[in-house]
Amino acid sequence: MRVKKAIIPAAGLGTRFLPATKAMPKEMLPIVDKPTIQYIVEEAVQSGIEDIIIVTGKGKRAIEDHFDHSIELEQNLLEKGKLELLEEVQKASKLVDIHYIRQKEPRGLGHAIWCARKFIGNEPFAVLLGDDIVKAQKPCLAQMIAQYDRYRSSIIGVQQVPENQVSRYGIIDGQSLTDRLYSVSHLIEKPKQIDAPSNIAIMGRYILNPGIFDMLENQKPGAGGEIQLTDAIAELNRFEAVYAYDFDGTRYDVGEKLGFIQTTIDFALQRDELRNDLLDYFSQILDKKHAKIK
Ligand code: UTP
Repeated sequence: MRVKKAIIPAAGLGTRFLPATKAMPKEMLPIVDKPTIQYIVEEAVQSGIEDIIIVTGKGKRAIEDHFDHSIELEQNLLEKGKLELLEEVQKASKLVDIHYIRQKEPRGLGHAIWCARKFIGNEPFAVLLGDDIVKAQKPCLAQMIAQYDRYRSSIIGVQQVPENQVSRYGIIDGQSLTDRLYSVSHLIEKPKQIDAPSNIAIMGRYILNPGIFDMLENQKPGAGGEIQLTDAIAELNRFEAVYAYDFDGTRYDVGEKLGFIQTTIDFALQRDELRNDLLDYFSQILDKKHAKIK
């Protein structure tokens, strides 16, 4: 069966970005001028996804408004002849069919996925987390769907991270089957460096078989007291093969402050209208810094 549906969980509290996320969803924080979640939706659409369900929670209305029409704004831009902006604004509402479901309390990523089970039904589906933006020639999710089409098993997107960062991620252990594909033998969420079986980290992209919902149904809280998707995948792995795919592309961690700032700078440097002014600004800062050191 073809992978046509995707879940984007967006019901987390975004505590690492407080106070900005007190009244605004973390997923709406812009990278230059586009909300993070729009990059994620665009990747899904470019990968052939036809229906998306966003799991939202309290204070997340702005996400629904962003992907809806804004009649007054569109009328205003039309009257003022700002047609390029009008096109940009309309783009978000025309991308794909988006559905919403609420997670009543943030009980963890695994629980957020479970909330979308009725929408998915009995077919394989994708999960994309808003914390990870991937820049790649072939969209990251499309690379993973290609692997799913070949093996028909759940596939986790992974990349290697420095050893001293393993405690921030779900980590897998497994046998290498090809230069990018692993057969997973073990998964552990946020292990201490000393307990980590490898430095191969889960990066916010998954293709999952619907059997995962049976695992989530009975999943007990794990790391951080939350119902962890990683634990449910480890359980699924007891009954059916799970693979991990080391996707091609640069992955940006926008879920924490430094990563968010680096992503903003990198994306701005790729924009013709910003690059030169930004580089001038950086050299001014560096000159001042060098002058102080001398
Ligand atoms: P994170 O742990 O990175 O997001 O969860 P968070 O909880 O919002 O951020 P911090 O740690 O408090 O700063 C990964 C993804 O899972 C979603 C989040 O919205 C994010 O996209 N999530 C997490 C849920 O949808 N529900 C939850 O209960 C927890």
